[in-house]
Amino acid sequence: MAVSIKSAREIELMRESCRLLEIVHDELGKAIRPGISTLDIDRMGDKMIRDMGCIPNFKDYNGYPASICVSVNDEVVHGIPDKNRILMDGDIVSLDAGLIYKGYHSDAARTYAVGEISREAQLLIERTRQSFFEGIKKARAGAHLHDISNAIDAYISQFGYGIVRDLVGHGIGTSLHEDPQVPNFRQRRKGMKLAPGMTLAIEPMINLGRGDVEWLDDDWTVVTEDGSISAHYENTILITEGEPEILTLSHLP
Ligand code: MF3
Ligand code: CO
Repeated sequence: MAVSIKSAREIELMRESCRLLEIVHDELGKAIRPGISTLDIDRMGDKMIRDMGCIPNFKDYNGYPASICVSVNDEVVHGIPDKNRILMDGDIVSLDAGLIYKGYHSDAARTYAVGEISREAQLLIERTRQSFFEGIKKARAGAHLHDISNAIDAYISQFGYGIVRDLVGHGIGTSLHEDPQVPNFRQRRKGMKLAPGMTLAIEPMINLGRGDVEWLDDDWTVVTEDGSISAHYENTILITEGEPEILTLSHLP
C-alpha cells in the first residue's frame, strides 16, 4: 500500500483526533495508583472516548477485547484489562490508547510508575521516552525512515537495554495501521524518504533485559522472554516542511 500524504483538511482532523486522545491519556495518567485494577483503567478510558463522540479503535481490532491496552511490568504491550489485576506499589504500567474522530485515527502510549518504583525502573521509563525524542529529531522531510530507527537504536544501545524487534511503529490515518512500518532498531536499508503530510505513530518498546518477547496463551499479551520489565512510549506525529509536529503531545511534561 502506498503511504498516504494527508491534505490540509485531513491534517486538521488528525490534529483533533490526537488532541482528544491526549486528554484521555492525561486523565488516565492521573488515575494511576496502587489499588486500581487494569479493568478500571480500561472502563475509564472507554467511557471518556465515547463521551467525546469518538470510537475506541483498539476495541475489536483483530478481536482485541478492550479499548485500552494495559501492560504491567514484564508485559510489553497489548495486555488485556482484568478486574483481578490490581496495580501495586512498585509496578510500572504501560497504557496504550487510540481513538477515531470523524474517521481519523490517533494512537499514543505512556508508561507510568505505580507509587514508588526502583531507580532502575524510573530510568528505563525516562530513557524509553527520550528515545522517542531522539527518533523524531530525524523525522524531517527529506530524511529517510531509517534515520528515525537508527537514532532510537543508537540512543538506547548505550544503556544496554533490549529493543523489541517483533513490533514496530507505523503510518496512521484513516486506518490504525498504515504503511510504512517504523522499526525501533538499526536498519541498513534507508527506507522511504519522509515527506510533509505523512503521519506516523512512533513507538519504542524497550526492555530492561534482552529484547526478545513472547506471546501469552491469550494470543495478545506480549511479555519479555527473560521476565525483565518493559516500557513503551508512543506519539502520533506529522512530518512538516520543518520541525515535526507531535500531534498527541501539545505540552512537554
Ligand atoms: N499502539 C498499538 C499498535 O500500534 C495499538 C494496537 S492495540 C490493538 O499496535 F489492540 F488494537 F491491537
Ligand atoms: Co501504534
